Amino acid sequence: MDVSEKPGGRPDVSFASRLVAWQKRHGRHALPWQHTRDAYRIWLSEIMLQQTQVATVIPYYERFLTLFPDVFALANAPLDAVMQCWSGLGYYSRARNLHMCAKRVVEEYQGVFPSDPALLERLPGIGRSTAAAIAVFSSGVRAAILDGNVVRVFSRVFGIADPVTEAEGKRRFWQMAVDLLPESDIESYTQGLMDLGATVCTRVRPDCPDCPFSDTCVALSEGRVDELPVKKAKKTIPVRHVVMLLVYADDRILLEKRPASGIWGGLYSLPEIAMEPDGDILADEGMASRVRQAVARWGEMESMAFLSPFVHVFTHFRLHITPCVVKLSRVETVARDDVEVWQDAASVHLAALPAAVRKLLDAANRQGCLAFPD
Ligand code: ADE
Repeated sequence: MDVSEKPGGRPDVSFASRLVAWQKRHGRHALPWQHTRDAYRIWLSEIMLQQTQVATVIPYYERFLTLFPDVFALANAPLDAVMQCWSGLGYYSRARNLHMCAKRVVEEYQGVFPSDPALLERLPGIGRSTAAAIAVFSSGVRAAILDGNVVRVFSRVFGIADPVTEAEGKRRFWQMAVDLLPESDIESYTQGLMDLGATVCTRVRPDCPDCPFSDTCVALSEGRVDELPVKKAKKTIPVRHVVMLLVYADDRILLEKRPASGIWGGLYSLPEIAMEPDGDILADEGMASRVRQAVARWGEMESMAFLSPFVHVFTHFRLHITPCVVKLSRVETVARDDVEVWQDAASVHLAALPAAVRKLLDAANRQGCLAFPD
């Protein structure tokens, strides 16, 4: 018997009805992507919310809609403009897929998103759960979502200890997600799952007294709230060490366009030099001469200063960044057009920069390392 079934094989309808009642009273009702059936807006919000929290998404969502108010505007925009608007939000493959998806919706569906989750799922960047969320909120289609928040709610309320990272756990959670769907009120139910996971049944310090399932929650009654959901032991994630060069001359800064695939694909970053794994700049005696060598092709070096290192965390590795600010007294003509760009310092913040590069530029500015002529 699955936990989502009551003895006798009937689906547990009380879960859905309680959740719907709770959502209507206590859930979120003023998010900018609510109270619309516009699939474009809903799709955009769901993609932005895939790996990013609501509070971070809201200003990006609003700016994005000002620049690209509909799917045609987005499909016709250059990728660079899309990347620029996404810059700082992270997980940049989402922005590339978003652009590709807009083009497909225009070409294949005349700009009208399909409402069938199976068709949505064939579009770039849309997985099973996102397809369901778009179909629910734009068309009221009865479809199941399953993201990290929903897994946490199911796992605690029903006491499921299967890790969702394993195939069997995944299958079981998806089956529950489908079995628990109500016959009506699918929008409030789906929003309720999201709201409960984000505001009450949170990863740390859940607010159990305010939960609509506090009287039936298996994890709460068995004192296992902190143990659930079960995660497979994480492998230690690797660390990469780089020196990032902030090369400037006159009032311009050298930016390097990243290849389309890989981290920060399509964004403008700074040139990098790989470091030894221990990453200690002082231990790497050759680093200053490697910087000098690397910089020679852009011009004559006037000064070089290393700043305090910082760490940027990606899903699969950590990037340990040691900034190095280099001032050139004379600039050679740039060899690699399209890849290397001398950007005016005054407008550098407008470029499609990853958050780590913005942070580095801010640190250099704050420490007075960038001396531009008046
Ligand atoms: N997370 C994913 N989709 C969401 C939505 N529509 N509202 C709030 N949080 C979400």
